[in-house]
Amino acid sequence: MTDGRSRYDVDQVRERTDLVALIGQHVTLKKRGGRHIGLCPFHQEKTPSFGVDEQKGFWHCFGCGKGGDAFTFLMQLERLSFPEAVERLAERAGIQPVETFEAPQRKEERDFLYEANAAAAAAFAVALRGNTGTVARQYLEARGITPDVAARFGLGYAPQRWDALESHLRKRGFSTEVLAKAGLILARSHGEGYIDRFRHRLMIPIYDRRGRVVAFGGRALSAEDNPKYLNTAETPIFHKSRTLYALHLAAETIGKRGRVIITEGYFDVIACHLAGFTEAVASLGTALGEEHVQILRRLAERVYLVYDADSAGINAALRSQALFRQAEVEVRIVCLPAGHDPDTLLRNEGAAVFERCLEESLAPVEFELQRLVQQHPARDAEGRLHLFRAAAKVLQPLSKLERAEYALRLIDRALGSRGDLTELQQALLGEVAALDRSAQRGSTRRPTEVAGANQAASTADAQLERELLTAVVQHPDFAVRAAAALTPEVFNHAGYRAIFEAICAQIAQGQAPDARRIVAEDELTAALIAALAVRDMLPLNQTALDGLLERLRDEYDRRQAQPQALDLTDRAAVEAFTAKLRERSQRFALRQYGTEE
Ligand code: UTP
Ligand code: MN
Repeated sequence: MTDGRSRYDVDQVRERTDLVALIGQHVTLKKRGGRHIGLCPFHQEKTPSFGVDEQKGFWHCFGCGKGGDAFTFLMQLERLSFPEAVERLAERAGIQPVETFEAPQRKEERDFLYEANAAAAAAFAVALRGNTGTVARQYLEARGITPDVAARFGLGYAPQRWDALESHLRKRGFSTEVLAKAGLILARSHGEGYIDRFRHRLMIPIYDRRGRVVAFGGRALSAEDNPKYLNTAETPIFHKSRTLYALHLAAETIGKRGRVIITEGYFDVIACHLAGFTEAVASLGTALGEEHVQILRRLAERVYLVYDADSAGINAALRSQALFRQAEVEVRIVCLPAGHDPDTLLRNEGAAVFERCLEESLAPVEFELQRLVQQHPARDAEGRLHLFRAAAKVLQPLSKLERAEYALRLIDRALGSRGDLTELQQALLGEVAALDRSAQRGSTRRPTEVAGANQAASTADAQLERELLTAVVQHPDFAVRAAAALTPEVFNHAGYRAIFEAICAQIAQGQAPDARRIVAEDELTAALIAALAVRDMLPLNQTALDGLLERLRDEYDRRQAQPQALDLTDRAAVEAFTAKLRERSQRFALRQYGTEE
């Protein structure tokens, strides 16, 4: 993974990348007219609908609709982030970074840290196979881990000595300073010198996405040893909040299956992989945070959390639901039979039982409600009141439909056939409505939706916008005219709006409008730009294009005039609305009579 240490001139990297040669490494391309065509690497097909337009600088598939430039091709094919793709193509073209965000001396230090960790992992692995490793080998055997599985995960053993690793690595030229910084040795609290941090522990290397060892987890080999796991603390190359254990092994399956299984423990991951769930990773004793979500959203649509039901991890995940929703990642909470973790369940009950647990996983709301039912026995009116008050908080952020649906389910689960279902449902929804009212009093913000109202583009709108934007993308002269005549808001389609905005920005900066230079980091925008660029364009006809401009503006006015989003109690909104109406009818009159005073 790139660590964001270097910045490249993206335009330079793009110009020096031979798009056909790059894609040709992965797809057999045939020249057809001005384009190269082949079988799309992103979906199954027998006749080619994938094409590369070298001159325009884009690839596009008419079958699955994907498309983009050199960067987005690599991003989608190898699931890289944008900076990673830039770095890769820069290296490929032999381009040096314009800027490196740290002194060369620090860069060297990081390299030493990687090397020290790699050397330590190698030494631990040798020790596991050697004489001193007997206890650790027996431990692994008891946990069902064979030597080749141990090798796959790079497992090792830290011998029971004060300086086994230190003296080994010092002989290989590593300074105590580097070893201490890597978290492998500790300064003695009394007296001079250092001691090994990990002693008599089973060593589990933690890798980054490039497969480099960046840290270790060390498991105690007997129940008396505390703590059970000793982990590397944060170092310049290891940040817990950005690391997921075994992601380097799991990334491919995660992408293929579109889902990721997140467990709490190292051994849970190993057991999952052994049972064929190679999409499993673990968060390292920390809650899943923003940075994890950012990593995962590029790989998977769905996250299965297999945490202890009462763990801090679950609560943190419930709290960060907004984060997941924003990233459009669906969260499922997996409940295992009491007393089991994935490791024990898989080894005792097998893969089918585990898969069934995944299938029976709950949406976070359902999980929370179920937990409330357990916490608040609703035997009498008072118990019911407590339950409803707590449940109302969970239901409040939901839509009306979801509220009603989940309210019914909760009542059914908590009370079964006791009581009148609809009456109870009304009572619960009444609690939710009370929360709505107090929320409204507490803030000037009106309830949701408003923002979503403009989103749904009618297909006719979208078509018009596409026609116009195609012309903008394909004809720089017209782009300049359009930028002068339209503001980006007239585009209802968020993707088209973003593209038009980017082109306006180029023009504003005095550059020639060029869709190839738009940096589209997300798949959707990339595909849109490519689709626009490679479309067959009707001959450019000034009058027709001006007609498009006009129609688009009219559409925009029409949408603005639609009253559905208007809150009649909001004076400012009403005034703005009537002003727009007035302006619109004036413009209409102008066009009808063609006179201007
Ligand atoms: P658990 O205590 O649930 O253990 O810790 P486990 O994974 O089931 O471990 P085994 O099966 O007994 O070996 C879950 C995770 O929390 C972190 C580790 O990452 C562990 O895998 N942990 C736990 C620590 O960092 N330190 C500890 O002392 C305990
Ligand atoms: Mn366990």
